[in-house]
Amino acid sequence: MVSSMVTIASLAKKKQRGEKIAMLTAYDFSMAKLMDTAGADIILVGDSLGQVVLGYDSTLPVTLADMIHHTKAVVRGTRRALVVVDMPFMSYQIGPRQALQNAGKLVKEAASVATKPEEGKPASQSVSIAVKLEGGREVASTVRRIVDAGIPVMGHIGMQPMSASKFGGARIHGKAEAEAEQILADAKALEEAGVFAMVLEVIPAELAKRVTESVSVPTIGIGAGPHCDGQVLVSYDLLEMYGAPFRHVKQYANLGEQAEQAFRDYIADVKSGLFPGAEHSF
Ligand code: KIV
Repeated sequence: MVSSMVTIASLAKKKQRGEKIAMLTAYDFSMAKLMDTAGADIILVGDSLGQVVLGYDSTLPVTLADMIHHTKAVVRGTRRALVVVDMPFMSYQIGPRQALQNAGKLVKEAASVATKPEEGKPASQSVSIAVKLEGGREVASTVRRIVDAGIPVMGHIGMQPMSASKFGGARIHGKAEAEAEQILADAKALEEAGVFAMVLEVIPAELAKRVTESVSVPTIGIGAGPHCDGQVLVSYDLLEMYGAPFRHVKQYANLGEQAEQAFRDYIADVKSGLFPGAEHSF
């Protein structure tokens, strides 16, 4: 049975005990509810919503208002998983002060719709909300400022979709030893700055193992092999609802094809008069 509330402390214990952490992206109430019920430890309101929900070709146009809108929907559907919200492009890059203001706004708005704890349960039983931001050593002081204000922060290193053009497009990071050393240094800097966990995106499995063994906080891999403390996938990728999946994605369903077929069947039924039948009429 899936029941207990996921907290920063319970995630740390999972790393200590060698229990894997499962994280998924959600952008709306219904999906969040399904994932929460299914037992996801962390639900990420990823800025990948730019592509899979809003139809942009990158995460860059996503705004703070977009993130707040979708986060509120996700929080309404979540009873026990930890909710992590991506800080969108240019909402934290100007400096720690801007970052803290925007992280505060995200968390305040999200918390305003969080389900009240059940009667008789302490307030600490309501869903926990954290933010995630991309970057390594260059964002360490920003992370520190947000964490010091009491907002939990998840890091994100390796491939960083917001900076893909700076690094020559989407590619595996850390194949060369010099780049691997940079990623290890980024991981240590984030740990020292106070992140409670970090995403490792599209790096070699052996490097992900080195990072995982060298930091005390959980690592969550995407395209980073089996040695991370947890895994994350974009839900639209694992359900195959958004184009051809990447190599690192395991397909658990093909909802895109099924949905398109259902729409075709419905349209054909409407046009031929088969729908609605007597059983759907009053
Ligand atoms: O935006 C997102 O979905 C993410 C995942 C790829 C980790 O950051």
